[in-house]
Amino acid sequence: MALDLKTLLAAMTLEEKIGQLTMAAGSYAVTGPIIGGDVEAAIRAGRVGSLLNLWGATEIAAIQKIAMEESRLGIPLIVGFDVLHGHRTIFPIPLAEACAFDPALWKATARAAAGEAAADGVSMVFAPMLDIARDPRWGRIAEGAGEDPFVTCEFAKAKIAGFQGEDLADPAAVAAVAKHFCAYGAAEGGRDYASADVSERALHEIYMPPFAAAIEAGCAAIMPAFMDLAGVPMTAHQPLLRGWLREAQRFEGVIVSDYNALAELMQHGVAADLTAAAVLALRAGVDIDMMSSAYADGLPQALARGLVAEEEIDACVHRVLKLKQRLGLFDGVLRGARRQGGDSAEPALARDAARRSIVLLTNHGALPLSPTLRKIALIGPLAEAAGEMDGPWGAAGDRNDAVSILNGLKAALPAAEIFYAAGVAIKEGDAASIAEAMPLCAEAELIILCLGESAEMSGEAASRAELGLPGRQRELAEAALDLGQKLGRPVVALLSSGRPLTLPWLFERADAVVATWFLGAEAGHAIADVLTARFNPVGRLALSWPRAVGQIPIYYARRPTGRPFAAEDHYTTKYIDCAVEPQFPFGHGLSYSRFSLEKFAAGRQSFRSGDTLHFSVEVHNHGPFDGEATVFLFAHDLVASVARPVLELKRFGKIALPAGESGALCFALAASELAFRGADFQPCFEPGAFAFSVGFDADPSRHRKLTLEALER
Ligand code: NOJ
Repeated sequence: MALDLKTLLAAMTLEEKIGQLTMAAGSYAVTGPIIGGDVEAAIRAGRVGSLLNLWGATEIAAIQKIAMEESRLGIPLIVGFDVLHGHRTIFPIPLAEACAFDPALWKATARAAAGEAAADGVSMVFAPMLDIARDPRWGRIAEGAGEDPFVTCEFAKAKIAGFQGEDLADPAAVAAVAKHFCAYGAAEGGRDYASADVSERALHEIYMPPFAAAIEAGCAAIMPAFMDLAGVPMTAHQPLLRGWLREAQRFEGVIVSDYNALAELMQHGVAADLTAAAVLALRAGVDIDMMSSAYADGLPQALARGLVAEEEIDACVHRVLKLKQRLGLFDGVLRGARRQGGDSAEPALARDAARRSIVLLTNHGALPLSPTLRKIALIGPLAEAAGEMDGPWGAAGDRNDAVSILNGLKAALPAAEIFYAAGVAIKEGDAASIAEAMPLCAEAELIILCLGESAEMSGEAASRAELGLPGRQRELAEAALDLGQKLGRPVVALLSSGRPLTLPWLFERADAVVATWFLGAEAGHAIADVLTARFNPVGRLALSWPRAVGQIPIYYARRPTGRPFAAEDHYTTKYIDCAVEPQFPFGHGLSYSRFSLEKFAAGRQSFRSGDTLHFSVEVHNHGPFDGEATVFLFAHDLVASVARPVLELKRFGKIALPAGESGALCFALAASELAFRGADFQPCFEPGAFAFSVGFDADPSRHRKLTLEALER
């Protein structure tokens, strides 16, 4: 018989209702999950409705049994976990995976992660992270899809489809939590948890669209961000949570706070005590209080004092119960935990995702590695660092299980001798020695430097003020570069990191530099695939790569200025001590093949707001390898009532071409997607000329362009 939620709600005491709005921790240790006695007692009493940080089919079945068989009403728990880039099988960090520009891949890795998480009893994942980030000082840039709203919208749709599948009741599906709403990536100075103060236009054009896309994709839940937006903490932001999410976007899912964020309303200085914090969050529309006891401690008092109405609490409880029902949690303690073990396709998917995420930044001919190489020096603290390859969210993966770069290369090049030395530690201070690494470099035919950050240097609470190589890595790299130069040995640098690093000296001197990010379980194999050309690199930067920290915030979709840069004119926009362009533009990424674009054409010369525009372009692979090209379609509204960005990404497409062959890529674009918010923030479509361009990156000097005329409606 179908469960009637209204009847269930009517049978609940206030304490049980608040319990459904309370998320507690099932603590975990390296060895596996451990549940504390107090949490069990609270579940039995109906005072906890969801848990986080817990996994394991046996453990979760046991705790569900307590909820469903030993509590008065037998309501199952939601179990949430941070499955940002894989659950047991760890995939590349989202920033890296974004560089694949491949929605089918984005969906496939989310699908695989959901299957593994669900098999482990997890029913909710705190992902995808949809924060646009244009400031690589912010460590959480690693968790999102980069700088662009269009890309992040596509990423949102693919990830949600992957996590949630067709139906949440599917035992391999989990509820997705789109986070962190909103503008968290605009944290001042790139400092995690710091205020953001962005314009209404930036909210509408940059930060909110990914959440609108998530809602359209049927996202089950949304998490408000920790920080305050122009003084109003997002956890208490009535206009955006209740006004925009609930009313304007008609979001009917669950809003789950971030960790302890309700109690932090006191630290923000907007609530005097937990009761006031609970009132603010409830009024704004937060359903689940993650890890602060504000709802549990504050709501009974707030109700008694008439500060909130029981119907408001009921509405939240109803949404939570509804989600539990949709997830099929009422159907039995073993929901999801029915599927045992991982799918054998997952290592292959992890390897493919990883190699597609790698971006070849520079190459002066050192790559691909020659098959005749017999002696390679593999130098640097990231070379034999399996524990770092997973990046910031290791989830339930076994950190030491990842394939290191050394092991990947050894497997790919059995006939070569690989001399390995760390040279230095990632951070300052241990016994590793630059001097000991140099003789290995001297003996080798080619030097590969494995440089970068440790996994813990990106992700949450990992902001950096400097974006160079930590510790003494620059010293190590320069010693190897000097030696390589002296002895005529090519030097290839691999950068493991959760963000772009500002290393103009390295890009200047190395024979090739590869962004290898944090690639997950199969990192070493994927890197070897690319270095040996077993896989021709396809990754393209999902962000503009800065030369210097002083260029931040950096992104391609800037507005025109009245004084565009001109080298011969002093009074134009620029830095007097640094180039104005990024080190590498958005979309940059080399292949071992050379591609060109020809014959960019549109199906019509003019259009109206209801039309669909069709574009085509020919792509040529000039060889010498089979390869895949990624093409970006940009638009620029040349004259409008509000200055529009010089480039706005409207579409991206990929085409696989054998060496020497050509093919056509076609893009369809609804003219309505060229509308923007006018000076009054209402959507408007203005007649006039639009420039469209296609290119392999966001450097307009290399684009194919055409102009079309938008006519009056
Ligand atoms: C805090 C983080 O901001 C959020 O992204 C995460 O989901 C929660 N902690 C739970 O771990």
